[in-house]
Formats: sequence, structure tokens, C-alpha cells
Amino acid sequence: MKVSVTFLSSKDIPKDLEKLNQTDTDFIHVDVMDGKFVPNKTMPFREMRHISDYTSKRLDVHLMVVDPSKYIPLYAELNTEYITFHVEVNEDIEKNLKMIKEYSIKCGLAIKPDTKISELIPYLPYLDLILVMSVEPGKGGQKFIEGTDKRIKEIRELLNSYNVPAIINVDGGINGDTVSLCRDADMVASGSYVVLSDDFQEKISSLR
Ligand code: DX5
Ligand code: ZN
Repeated sequence: MKVSVTFLSSKDIPKDLEKLNQTDTDFIHVDVMDGKFVPNKTMPFREMRHISDYTSKRLDVHLMVVDPSKYIPLYAELNTEYITFHVEVNEDIEKNLKMIKEYSIKCGLAIKPDTKISELIPYLPYLDLILVMSVEPGKGGQKFIEGTDKRIKEIRELLNSYNVPAIINVDGGINGDTVSLCRDADMVASGSYVVLSDDFQEKISSLR
């Protein structure tokens, strides 16, 4: 299982990013919130851009914003492996997916817990990643929603039936117990379970 750690719940971001740099986490999951798509707001890009001063890990960017087209060019400047935005946005999804790929960055669509997975079908051919939300997006430290394991299985079946090589990443409430409900996924994004612990590597290893 690949692991992507988010610092959204971190009490000391520079320190925690330096600590994460010493672990074998595959990616740093960068949660970006605009206070419109979700009530909370994360720090502005002029601060976010300094992430790479503290870690050389590749970034797995999760845009929880109403206008991903504004954020894609910014986050494409960083050490970015994936840019993911929400299938629920009102912007042109296909156009935004193509924009990400023009930067030679892998593109992903995130899906909220109550959104029908059939909404993903028109975009499957473009996707490198699907981000399955196991919490309502907007903050860290929430509980893994019951039944998300079934949704992960359904998405895996959908990908197989359309022959789509996208990876499945599960995001929200991931810990040593709930990770066992994500066995049909390729990666998990974990926040508070890791960054609020006193041994980041031990927690990351427990997710593998
Ligand atoms: C929620 C974010 C998640 C969250 C995960 O909107 O997209 O990435 O920060 O944090 P934990 O693991 O604490 O639920
Ligand atoms: Zn996230």
C-alpha cells in the first residue's frame, strides 16, 4: 500500500515536513481549501510554495476549491506528482484534466462520500488517480465513514470494466485499523494518525 501523508492537522508544519522527509512516505498530500468549496481555508499559495524548502518528497495535491483552473497552474510549479480536484465542481472537468496533463503532471478526480460513482464515467479515460473521500471534505481528524470499503470495491470494478489503469487513493480517517478496509485501493492519504503521533515512521509502516 502506498502512503501519502497530509500536514493539514500539523501543529508545526515546517518541523513536521522535515520529519516526514526522513520517513519512507511515498508522497506529501497537500490539502488546499478555498473556504468556498469547503468552509475552511488553508494558507495562501505564497506560503504553500515553501513546502519544498522543507521536504524533497513528491506532492499529491488535493484541491478542494470551486475553481481548480486558477490553482492548477500554481501547484504545477511545485515538486508535484498528482493534482486532484473534485468531480462536483462546476468548472469544465475535461478541460481541467487536460490542463494538468499539459504540465506532464498526473491528474486525478476526487469524489465526495455522497456523490454517485457513475459521475466519474465520462472522465475515466483521462484519469491517473481517483481520490475516494472517506470523510466529508473540509477538515482533518474525522472518522472514516462506514461503507467506504464497499465504494472502493465498486470503483475498482468500474476501473476494471473500463480497462482504466488509474490508481485508487483513499482519504480521510485513515489509521492502523481503517486501512484494513482499503485493501482494494492502491494508496491511502493519512493526516492526524501520523502527524499527531510521536513516531511518524512507525505509523506510516503500520499503513503498508
Ligand atoms: C479532508 C482532507 C483529508 C484530511 C485527512 O478534507 O482532504 O486529506 O486532511 O486527515 P485525517 O487523516 O486526519 O482524516
Ligand atoms: Zn485530502
